[in-house]
Amino acid sequence: MCGIIARVGEGNAVDRVITGLDNLEYRGYDSAGIALQNGTGVSVSKCSGEVEELKQNIRGDRLAGNIGIGHTRWSTHGPPTDENAHPHTNGDGTIAVVHNGIIENHAELRERLRSQGVEFESDTDTEVIPHLIDHYYATCDDPKVAFTRAISELEGSYAVVVMFEDYDAVYGARQGSPLVLGVGDDQYFLASDVPAFLEYTDRVVYFEDGDVVVARPHGVTVTTADGEPVNRPIESVDWDPEETGKGAYDHYMLKEIESQPSALSNSIRGRINDSNDGVDVDVFDPSTLADVREVQFIACGTSYHAAMYASTVLNRTGIRARAFRASEYQLSSDPVTTDTLVVAVTQSGETADTLGAMERAADEGAKLLTVTNVVGSSAARAADDTLFIHAGPEIGVAATKTFSSQAVTLSLLAQHLAEHIEDGTPVPNLPAVLDAVQTLPSDIEQIINTTRAAALANHYLNSEAYFFIGRELGHPVAQEAALKFKEITYEHAEGFASGELKHGPLALVTPRTPVFAIFTGLHDEKTLKNAKEAQTRGADIVAVAPAGHPAVSETDAHLPIPDTHPMWAGLLANVQLQLLSYHAADALGRSIDKPRNLAKSVTVE
Ligand code: F6R
Repeated sequence: MCGIIARVGEGNAVDRVITGLDNLEYRGYDSAGIALQNGTGVSVSKCSGEVEELKQNIRGDRLAGNIGIGHTRWSTHGPPTDENAHPHTNGDGTIAVVHNGIIENHAELRERLRSQGVEFESDTDTEVIPHLIDHYYATCDDPKVAFTRAISELEGSYAVVVMFEDYDAVYGARQGSPLVLGVGDDQYFLASDVPAFLEYTDRVVYFEDGDVVVARPHGVTVTTADGEPVNRPIESVDWDPEETGKGAYDHYMLKEIESQPSALSNSIRGRINDSNDGVDVDVFDPSTLADVREVQFIACGTSYHAAMYASTVLNRTGIRARAFRASEYQLSSDPVTTDTLVVAVTQSGETADTLGAMERAADEGAKLLTVTNVVGSSAARAADDTLFIHAGPEIGVAATKTFSSQAVTLSLLAQHLAEHIEDGTPVPNLPAVLDAVQTLPSDIEQIINTTRAAALANHYLNSEAYFFIGRELGHPVAQEAALKFKEITYEHAEGFASGELKHGPLALVTPRTPVFAIFTGLHDEKTLKNAKEAQTRGADIVAVAPAGHPAVSETDAHLPIPDTHPMWAGLLANVQLQLLSYHAADALGRSIDKPRNLAKSVTVE
């Protein structure tokens, strides 16, 4: 959470920093701020609210400076007020700091600084940083030395970028929170994530924890905190800058839902062999997989639902697999051994709960694989091997295309594991499964072109609650559909395994609680029976099923999906339900891309 951006180079930095903030707003939108330096001082503008408010505030201010830093905040310490917005400065405003992460020893540092006469203006943990730097700068008069001494006192996680009034440079460091360098032709960027500067450059340097970077208009140095030079290669990212813009869409979420055909094509490309009877998934040397006895998936939120999907697929191959919520996994005493393959599933690769769970797995000696969308992310670097989902950048806070890409990539991984783990047998009916996965992009295209989700969303608007049910592979989809619905509509929504409805949730069912039943082609009679138990209590049932499915004539409304293999039907149902959530939220006037209280990259535990 929180997005940071810095730009150094020739010409005015303002527009580039603001563009960076726009592109990073998915990381938090409680407040925004910018600081500029042009050799004659540091000027700071900041306010609570979204980047748009900052833009309004600075309109006409003629801000200028070739060096700029910016921040968009997801509040942790202190409410989203103007005072708590970043950048934070030292007493005389000559040092400005933006920070993402949490300084765990901030209270102790604040007390110490206070006893030295420092006055604080905000409730944030961040504000100790400019004051600490100021303290050291007064004794050494060297910005880099002051910066490194200050950060050596910080406990917790941080990506931090600092500018000084009289130095033509920005100073950055990372410890547990992301920070990347963008290498432009006549400028450099430091940012939390690549989309911040993708319009200007696709050449990127990923840093390791402990790196200290100094970016000047004509060069960058990277060292350890002790000043030892470190060499970090420049890599090219293959994301298209257009993917980070909204294009003609009102919302990123709709754009991302509708880009699932191409996202999935990218996830699948090159991973299925020509004769459709095996996969080509390039992870681990096969010999290291042979003795795996259990696969444990660790993930949060939507990624957890993709992990549930994958563990169900893997169980079908005879391999023992379980999905764990990463936040619980860290504390659990479920055995993890050297025969365990732990698969971290994380779109951003920066989710603190997932990184914490990975640490536990690594400590116990498990083999560790990360499945992620973000090259160079912390999770990608913490694992023994990485599998990328290739979904392209996702900006809307609600995950959509990355869920589909995760579920498909993980299902192909399941077959790969089945081929190499001793206990594994191939996914049943593999050629048909692989044949069908390749038509998913066109199936989704068909849904997008014909969906009636908007009409249905309007029909059921202002219901008491919305329930989603499914069995086996339909169950994670039901949970995902409910998460999406509550996340962006703020309405009460729940997802259940169909059979569970009668064990309690049925008490909530009334004529004002539509139930969306997901029919995958497996166990459908049972799902229909459970749906009818709700219908008898007055609920409308919406069948998410292919046209002509027996459930259609027995239910009250229908969201059609193309016929496909049961392995993938849930993913098509999910697309209809993503559209349902989107249109319900739109009709309710919600902040679809930036739902209240949330942020996309959750870097706190
Ligand atoms: C929901 C959503 C979140 C994320 C969760 C994990 O739409 O986006 O539930 O799925 O915060 O994020 P990653 O996948 O980045 O680890």
